[in-house]
Amino acid sequence: MTETKTDKFTLINELARRRGFFWQAYEIYGGTAGFVTYGPLGTRLKQNIEKKLRDLFVNKLGIIEIESSIITPGKVFEASGHVGHFKEPMVECSKCNKRFRADHLLEEYARISAAEAEKMSLLEIKEAIKKNAITCPDCGGSFNEPQQFLTMFVTTIGPYSGATGYGRPEAAQGIFVEFNRLYTIARERLPFGVLQIGHALRNEISPRQGLIRLREFTIADLEFFFDPEEPNCHLLKDVENDILPILTAEKRLKGSEEILNITVKDALKQKLISSEWQAFFMAIAKKLLIDLGVPSNKQRFIEKLPWEKAHYSTQSFDQEVLVDRWGWIEVSGHAYRTDYDLKNHMEASGVDLRVYKEYAKPIEEEQLVVKPIMAKLGPVFKAESAKVAELLASVPAEEVMAALEKNGFYQIQNYKILPEHVSISRQKTIVRGKRFIPHVVEPSFGCDRLFYVALEYAYHAKDDRVILRFPRSISPIQVGVYPLVSKDGLVEKAEAVYKLLVMEGFSAEFDDTGSIGRRYARADEAGIQLGITIDYDTLNDDTVTVRDRDSWQQVRASIKDLPELLRRYFMGKINFHELGTLIQNK
Ligand code: ATP
Ligand code: GLY
Repeated sequence: MTETKTDKFTLINELARRRGFFWQAYEIYGGTAGFVTYGPLGTRLKQNIEKKLRDLFVNKLGIIEIESSIITPGKVFEASGHVGHFKEPMVECSKCNKRFRADHLLEEYARISAAEAEKMSLLEIKEAIKKNAITCPDCGGSFNEPQQFLTMFVTTIGPYSGATGYGRPEAAQGIFVEFNRLYTIARERLPFGVLQIGHALRNEISPRQGLIRLREFTIADLEFFFDPEEPNCHLLKDVENDILPILTAEKRLKGSEEILNITVKDALKQKLISSEWQAFFMAIAKKLLIDLGVPSNKQRFIEKLPWEKAHYSTQSFDQEVLVDRWGWIEVSGHAYRTDYDLKNHMEASGVDLRVYKEYAKPIEEEQLVVKPIMAKLGPVFKAESAKVAELLASVPAEEVMAALEKNGFYQIQNYKILPEHVSISRQKTIVRGKRFIPHVVEPSFGCDRLFYVALEYAYHAKDDRVILRFPRSISPIQVGVYPLVSKDGLVEKAEAVYKLLVMEGFSAEFDDTGSIGRRYARADEAGIQLGITIDYDTLNDDTVTVRDRDSWQQVRASIKDLPELLRRYFMGKINFHELGTLIQNK
């Protein structure tokens, strides 16, 4: 974590500002931590990364995509458990009133690991701060009592002070609350997945890590629904021999950082990963990061310890990438959310979110049946009695009977059901199927962190110049078009080539200012994949020079073949040398 002037984080932030990838937002007012503006190159790079996610999940895996709102009624995050759990420990300096995340201070100044700090109570945090004599990093003042800070942005919906709304800290809930409609759209078949890519808001206490910790960022949440009685992943064959670098919870508890490189198949066999679908998405996530330029030996999946896991998860892994300044940073989270969210929304909304499964063969079963007696419900619940009856139908009869026996009443939402409101009987019935709540595994990617790691791994220096060696599928601009000189009709010819490529769907830039060497240098720094130079030979034979950003090699190709060749090149079907004839000694 040592900060030096020339570490990659600093270099990248400087380059990003200079070349218009991104910069801190609201600069004219002094800037606001945790918010960024993406410039022209950054916007394209980010769109390309998001396109990759869509291509992978929506196009190739048939996952459906939705877009829901960011502002969310309070009820949703009360039901999901976020209002109760989405909190971080915070301390305030008694002198300058600056506030800090207490666990981050302990990590930085007392060498208490993130895992240990996360486990500590407010009292333990207070004692550790005292014991390690930690004072305000800004002014040296002492800290007030630690407190929990709710990191969701709170607002009111409309002009009603009671109508609390939250800025969503994850896109997942927008999927869960629409489950019934989405299940219908998915033709009432499990398994199916839903992706949502959009802004998430988290009121981070003291974000100081640029793109890695933002208060407004882009999240890509994928909720994958399956039947817990049929948990097998039918796509496992495609990845079962892929290696996952895993740091298990067991190793971590022993203080070890040893990574186990294990195949997906063996990780499942040894029960290191509890869900086949979760293992599948972890393998996909590893490939995605490789496609973004992060080699597999710079990635790991770290299993979360019981107290580190989000409140909704039974098993979680963070996919981490090694970066220069910050060490291992999380880029995606993989949680087995079981039926937690749907169950909570079902209870809180009173709407049945179960799915129906028909048995292969109907079975005869003695079933406990709880029937509301409308003549009794009517006088008590009046206009709401139909709703109460519906609620009763959505809960297991065993649960109602047990409560009536134990407490003398059954509480469902605000309604108190007494024994005389229902009739309970055992009936032999032919059961053709059952209703159940699907289980969910969730891979969740932070697009800004994917952006940052793609940028850091693309960053190279050669001959005192920066080259951004992005994988060709995400290069913000695919081709630069350059007239060698600005006379003798070369500019007009270059403009025609530029127009041709743009009309063929390529992202292209036209540049005719400065020497050709300078233009190449500018292009390398912007990560433009190929340079196409129009020279005097072009006027005679309609051929151009194509220059590779990474090797600086050049080939000669004919203009008429270019669109098709470039299309194949950017799809990864041919390599650079297949674009034309290699020009030697360049
Ligand atoms: P961290 O431990 O770093 O705070 P988290 O565990 O809270 O992250 P998740 O809740 O799992 O993160 O969120 C899913 C993904 O969203 C993360 O893997 C990360 O890539 C991204 N993410 C989370 N918080 C931020 C943030 N403040 N800024 C940018 N990206 C974030
Ligand atoms: N939905 C992913 C997360 O908030 O962790």
